[in-house]
Amino acid sequence: MKRHLNMPEIQIGDYRLRTVKKSDYADMFEYGSDPLVTKYLNWGPFVHENEAKRSISGIFMARPSKGLPIGYAIVDTLNGKMIGTIDFHSPDRKHQMVEIGFVLNRAYWNKGIMTNALKALIPIGFDHLGYQKLKIRHLVHNGQSRRVIEKAGFTYVSTEDLIIEKSDGIRQERLRVYTLDKEDYHGIEQGQRHL
Ligand SMILES: CC(C)(COP(=O)(O)OP(=O)(O)OC[C@H]1O[C@@H](n2cnc3c(N)ncnc32)[C@H](O)[C@@H]1OP(=O)(O)O)[C@@H](O)C(=O)NCCC(=O)NCCS
Repeated sequence: MKRHLNMPEIQIGDYRLRTVKKSDYADMFEYGSDPLVTKYLNWGPFVHENEAKRSISGIFMARPSKGLPIGYAIVDTLNGKMIGTIDFHSPDRKHQMVEIGFVLNRAYWNKGIMTNALKALIPIGFDHLGYQKLKIRHLVHNGQSRRVIEKAGFTYVSTEDLIIEKSDGIRQERLRVYTLDKEDYHGIEQGQRHL
C-alpha cells in the first residue's frame, strides 16, 4: 500500500493536522507574506496570492510523485483557518532518512502548537512511512525553531553552510542540523512508559 497517499488526520487539542488542499492558498498567503515569518526560511515573503497557489500546486501537490505525502496543514478547528504547515521533504533513500519542515502564522506563535505538531509527526515518519531517521535543520539565529526541535527530542549533529537566494539578494548562512533515530526514539518512549 502506498502509505504516503493515506495519511492519518491528527487532532491535537483545538488544532488538526490534515493534508494541504488547493483552497488553503489564501491562508498560506497570509502567513507567507509576513516578513517576520519568512525571515529564516529559504522562500518568501510572498507578494502575490499566486505565489501561494504555485507553492501548493508546484511543491506540495508534486510530492506524491516522489513517494512523499503532500504535507500537513495545521488547522485551527475553532475557526477553520489554516495556520501553518508541517511536512516531510528531501528524502535520502540511501539512509532511509527524510527531512521535516514547518511554519506557523505569527498570531499563533508561542502556544506550543509546533512542538506538539512535531511530536505527533515523529511516529508518522517512523511507523507509518517507515523511515529510520528524521532530520531537521534551522538557520543558526532562529532560536524559536531551535527550541521546538530540542523540545521534540532531536539531537544536534553539525553546522553547515548554506547559500540563500531570495528576492532581497543572495546571502551566506549557517544551518544547524539535527537528527532523530527510530531506535533511539522508541527506546526513549519505552523508558518513559516504565517510569
Ligand atoms: C518556529 C515556529 C514554527 C515555532 O512555532 P511555535 O508554535 O511558536 O513553537 P512553540 O510554541 O511550540 O515553541 C516555541 C519555543 O521557542 C521559544 N522562543 C520564542 N522566541 C524565541 C527566541 N527568539 N529565541 C529562542 N527561543 C524562543 C518559546 O519560549 C518556546 O519555548 P518554551 O516552550 O521553552 O518557552 C514559528 O516560530 C514559526 O513559524 N517561525 C517562522 C518559520 C520558521 O522559522 N520555521 C522553521 C524553519 S527551520
